[in-house]
Amino acid sequence: MNTVTTPSGLCFAQLSDPHLTSLDAVRWHQLLSKRVLGYLSWRHNRRAEHRSEVLDALVDDLRRMHPDHVVVTGDLTQIGLPEEFSQARHWLERLGEGGDVTVIPGNHDAYARHAWSNTFALWEPWMRSDKLPEGVAATGRDTLFPSLRIRNGVALIGLSSAVATAPFFATGSLGAAQLSRLSAILRETGSQGLFRVVLLHHPPGTGTEKWRKRLRDTVALGEVLADCGAELILHGHSHRAMQDRIKREGGDIPVFGIPSASAVGRKPGRAAQYYLYDVRPDGDHWRIEVRARGYQREQHAFTLQHAYHLSAPRIDSTKR
Ligand SMILES: [Fe+2]
Repeated sequence: MNTVTTPSGLCFAQLSDPHLTSLDAVRWHQLLSKRVLGYLSWRHNRRAEHRSEVLDALVDDLRRMHPDHVVVTGDLTQIGLPEEFSQARHWLERLGEGGDVTVIPGNHDAYARHAWSNTFALWEPWMRSDKLPEGVAATGRDTLFPSLRIRNGVALIGLSSAVATAPFFATGSLGAAQLSRLSAILRETGSQGLFRVVLLHHPPGTGTEKWRKRLRDTVALGEVLADCGAELILHGHSHRAMQDRIKREGGDIPVFGIPSASAVGRKPGRAAQYYLYDVRPDGDHWRIEVRARGYQREQHAFTLQHAYHLSAPRIDSTKR
């Protein structure tokens, strides 16, 4: 017999693409192949756009809003050097404990291949699932993702689209094995009547990102989502606010992409933002309030810029 409990809901924040690390101490001998290009891009461009004082102001504002949980949708680093993973770990330790902050990686974090033990292993407390299947050790992308964390009726499902690519490419890929496990997780959490939030770094919609920066398996992902369902999809990567929908019979799935968390905003529409998602059960529906808080350069502070109201049908787990 099913035990029916009504979840209380969750208010969680999303920030993305903080690119929070400094390469000031990097030596040329550390910069093999593609990393030279990434380093030069940081020195001549990104260093002026991604500013620690903007990210500090965001975290101050986040503390004032005190969400129940925070998700970080990738690209914490510039070129994925082990030293950067250490810097980012210190920042994560200040942001919150592993159980209160969920991290997924971005393409910059997997810029070039490096040993897991001195890179992503440092972030595992913030990335791993609440529970691992028996006999599985969380020691790499293939066993950590999809991650699953359940908080007050909300299932946070983390994907990793972060793969090393050739120079000038920033594409991502999930792969068949991760998509197969995603399908099983979406079915299971759906049958439990949970509000399913899928987190990935790259935009999931086909044709929404430049070819050299796209997710390569958008079609396969779209098929899994259309087949199994989800209530919300969140991403970063594009450094601008984006809204999309994944087509699904019976109701499309809303998709939000957000700007970088540290951007001064030298181009219009690129200044830092973070979003708050307040998800509450309301009878046979979920009510979702989305608030975008954005950086105001003159005031050096974050203020409310947009609010959106959505709803999604609740799956009745007692009828399964
Ligand atoms: Fe990215």
